[in-house]
This record gives sequence, C-alpha cells and structure tokens, in this order.
Amino acid sequence: MYIDIQFVPLPPSPEILSNKTLVVIDVLRATSVIVHALSRGAAEVVPVTTVEEATRLFKTFPPGSTLLGGERGSRKIQGFDFGNSPKEYVAERVKGKRLILTTTNGTKAFRSVAAAEGVLVGSFLNGTATAERSLQLGRDILIFPSGDEGSFSLEDVVCGGMLIDLISKKSHDPIGLTDASWSARFLYQRFEGNLLEALRLSTHGKALDALGLGEDVLYCARTDVTNLVPAFRDGVIRVS
Ligand code: MLT
Repeated sequence: MYIDIQFVPLPPSPEILSNKTLVVIDVLRATSVIVHALSRGAAEVVPVTTVEEATRLFKTFPPGSTLLGGERGSRKIQGFDFGNSPKEYVAERVKGKRLILTTTNGTKAFRSVAAAEGVLVGSFLNGTATAERSLQLGRDILIFPSGDEGSFSLEDVVCGGMLIDLISKKSHDPIGLTDASWSARFLYQRFEGNLLEALRLSTHGKALDALGLGEDVLYCARTDVTNLVPAFRDGVIRVS
C-alpha cells in the first residue's frame, strides 16, 4: 500500500483515481462541518458546487426534510438555514434532516474526486478513525486537501500529514510514501502537539479570525472528538 497527497486541488485524472481510497480534507471548515453535522444526527449531506444548484435541489425535496447550509466569502448565504460554522449545526436543528451544503472549496473537492472507488471525509475532528478506516480498506490512498481557491492550504496539508503519520504507525506492513507524503508528514510533525498554531498561521485561519470566527478555528483544531467516518457515494455523504 502507498499513500500520496496532492498539495493543490487540481482534479485528478481517472487513472489516478482508479482503485484508490480518497480522503477529502477541508479543515477550515467544510469537512469539519460535515463531520460535526453528521455527529449531531444529520441524516446525510449533499455537497453541491453552486448556490443555484443548492436552491434548485432543495425545492425537489419534501418540505421540512431538508436544510440549506454553506458560505461565500466565509459568510452565510442569504436565505440559507446555516452558514459554515460547526456550532450552528446543533442536534435540535439537524437531527434526521438532509443537509445541502455549498462552500467555496470543500464541496467542490468532492466533485473532483467523485469517480474514485471510495471517498472518505477527513478532518482533525475524526482523524484517528479516518486513518484506521483508510487502512482497513486496503487500497492505495490519495489524500486530497481542498486548498484555498486552487492554492496550497497549510491546515489541510498538516491534517493530511497527521493521517499519513497515523496510518504509517498503525500499519503492520510497510507503507510506501511519496515525496509529497513525506513532506506532509514532516510538516505535521512540526505542529504535532499544537495544531492550533498551524491553523492560526494559515491564510484562511487568519481570515476567519478577522471575521470574528476565531471560535470555529479553535473548534476545528480539536482532534478525535468523534469516531464517525463519513463516506461520499453517488453524490451523497453518509456515515459509513
Ligand atoms: C470552503 O469550502 O472554502 C470553506 O469551508 C470556507 C469557509 O468555511 O470559510
């Protein structure tokens, strides 16, 4: 088994996706929100690319069954039920509901890797469980950080490095690491024990802080608050 990580979110070719487990990461904040909302009892999350697609799809479901969430410029979209702060997704509001989510980078990333054999949703919140599930699946792994408008994002690659570190330590067999995987692992080791430092140094962490959303940055830096490992299949994310 080997693990690769893509430093920038260019859509991988079908050959690269074939026979692999993909792990999509958007620590700030899409995959953290997805993991959190499912841990609070949301039935499923449908990631979509545009606001128009979200509102069109919303109208196709029975009234009361579905909620709209997401952001543009990190702010709540007008007319939506939720923004993209994990704390908004409380059990009283999301339990048993379908959530249609559209965000700037994270929900797009799912579209880019939709053709893969298996796609998992990773974050610090479910890091150890995601590493264990990726290992159990027995396929080569490609970690896919969502990045920031096409660019490298520190917090996603540090989270990818944590998964690589955990998988390498937990495997009974040797795991092959690409140069990118070694680099992400070393980067994680620089911040191990103070992940919040990486999130606060990151461009997006600073932007969220400036918008008064520093509490989200704190929450998304927490590790292993849940064992849930959501999987994306046929356009929908559910607990697997
Ligand atoms: C994204 O998908 O780009 C993010 O989750 C943005 C954010 O929440 O601010």
